This record gives sequence, C-alpha cells and structure tokens, in this order.
Amino acid sequence: MDFAARHGLAHPAQHHRHGRNLSQRQPAELLNKIAAAIRMLPAAMYAVYFDIVRKDPERLAEAARAGIREACFATGSHHRLPLIDLSDWLCGFRSSLGTVVLPMELPTEGVGNASYFHALAAICAASRPTRIVEFGTFLGLGTAVLALNSAAGILTIDLPDTPRAQETETLSQADLTLVSRSRNRIGAYYRGETYADRITEVRCDSRRLDLRDYVPFADLCLIDGGHSYECIASDTSNALRVLAPGGTIIWDDYFWMYPDVVLFLNELQKAGYPLYRIKGTNLVVYRNSGSRPAPDRSACRGERAQGLRSPEGERDRPDAP
Ligand SMILES: C[S@@+](CC[C@H](N)C(=O)[O-])C[C@H]1O[C@@H](n2cnc3c(N)ncnc32)[C@H](O)[C@@H]1O
Repeated sequence: MDFAARHGLAHPAQHHRHGRNLSQRQPAELLNKIAAAIRMLPAAMYAVYFDIVRKDPERLAEAARAGIREACFATGSHHRLPLIDLSDWLCGFRSSLGTVVLPMELPTEGVGNASYFHALAAICAASRPTRIVEFGTFLGLGTAVLALNSAAGILTIDLPDTPRAQETETLSQADLTLVSRSRNRIGAYYRGETYADRITEVRCDSRRLDLRDYVPFADLCLIDGGHSYECIASDTSNALRVLAPGGTIIWDDYFWMYPDVVLFLNELQKAGYPLYRIKGTNLVVYRNSGSRPAPDRSACRGERAQGLRSPEGERDRPDAP
C-alpha cells in the first residue's frame, strides 16, 4: 500500500485528473486571501505595537483587533452565507424603488450603525408590512425606524427591568452589557413620538413566549434579542410560526462577536432555508416565498432546532391572512 492510500489521501494520479478544476479555482481564492491579509497588515502591526508599549489613549488597538477579527471572519470558513447587495435583495419586492425615513441623529449607544439602520428602513419600507415583531427592543431606535418606515402595528419584546437569573443565564458578556445598559430605559427613544401608539411592548424572556398568543401573523420579524444559541433558536422558531406568506425575517449580528448566531444561521441554511447576508451589514435575511424544496431539518443541531417549521409548513399555517 502506498503512502497516499495509507493516509487516506487522494492518489497523485487523481490530483492530476482533477488538476484543471483546482488550478482554475485556486488562484482567485488565494489572491483574495493574500489581498485580505495585506489589507489587515497595518491594523495587525498596530495591535502588536500596542501589546509591546501598552499605551493606547485612543483605543485604536481595540478597533484594530476588531478589524482583524472581521477580516478573518469574512475570509474564513465560518462565514458561509452568501453575500448580496441590499438593492439586489430588494428587487424581490415590487415597491423597492422608494425612499426611507431615518432619524436626524442616531444615538445608537453602541448598538447598530448607519448601514444597519438604513438597511432596516429599506427592507421595512419595501416589504410594506402591516404587522411587525421585534425581538430585543433596547432603547427603541430600531423600533422607531420600523415605525417610521411603515404603517404597521409593532410588537416589541425585551426582558423585564429586573430580569431573574434564569432569564439571562445563557447570555454572553456582550449581551449582559446591553441588558444592564438598557434597564429602565427600554423603548425610551420612541416615548412620546406620534407613532408610539402603534407600538406594543412585551416585557419577558422571549424564550418563554409563544408569539401565536400575541399576533395572528407577522409580515416582518426582526430577531435581535439574546444572542445565545438558545435565544436565537427559540426566537427563530417563534417567528417562523407566525410568518405570513411573503413575510421576511431579519437577523442582526451575524459576525465574529456572536458565534452562536453564526452557528445557528449556518445550520438553518444547511437545513434548506435560503439565507443571505446583506453586504456592508451584519444582517441576514430570509423571505418566505412559499415555493422552496422541503428543507432537511435533521441538519439542525439538537432538539432546540426541532421546533423549526419548514418553509412549506409556513404556507400551510391556518390563520395566514
Ligand atoms: C442588540 S439589543 C436590541 C437592539 C434593537 N433591536 C435596535 O435595533 O436598536 C438586544 C436587546 O435584547 C434584549 N434581550 C436579551 N435577551 C433577551 C431575552 N431572552 N428576551 C427578550 N429580550 C432579550 C436585551 O435586553 C437588549 O435590550
């Protein structure tokens, strides 16, 4: 037995046979990786320099590290969902060439940025929802953007002001920081605004709630609450239960800081849901067109994924509008 066979490697002759395909594909991939490595070099050098001198008054090293992680994430194998331009994705809606409304100022307090709010506004305006569900209210800036770009009734869910230990036990440090930063300020941004009467707040652990008790259907769901696997799996399952035909689900935070979100959405795609990451954002989108092949739900991990309804299942929902 030769070396290749003993180690389970393809025989060199086989390499030769497949040589044309490989040689066509590899140079482009390799060049992309080299280009990404060159792009992150200045940031990497700064981060190394900071580690040596231990002085960084502008917190640039932290930003440099984030840039490196993002570049590694975007070029690495974890990042599996196809990228799409927002305008290309919006082509699926007839009303896509419209305008959006954004607040003059975006006091994000570290959650979201201009690209996020613009994409959220555009998807909302294009999909003309009558009923929206948002997981994760925070200060209510996202809720306000949804309200400003639709005439919909909005149900928005966040933890109580004093959450119990078991309501936050699966959350990462990044999530816990957001929870503590927003206590007693949930929805503060839209209080007193003209559209506030279209917004209904629910204050509980979203994993304990069955959306069917609150809404007969939803045309648009924003999943941006807890980022643990448990939360995102439960929120997704809940959203799919009420998603109207033609309805859209948006997930935020498909990036290196929330590995459970990345893991879960990659699994969901593997299970047959056509998901796309919107270029220039951390948003992932799914539209229930009702004409997809049956997804393989066994590809999802564990019993938590069991509750996920197939795209076909959504079409059969008895209370669909
Ligand atoms: C990233 S922020 C939401 C940002 C908001 N969607 C926006 O666009 O401005 C996440 C929020 O989810 C809430 N959250 C975390 N775990 C939750 C859970 N299990 N149930 C409900 N809300 C949760 C946190 O309290 C926090 O306010």
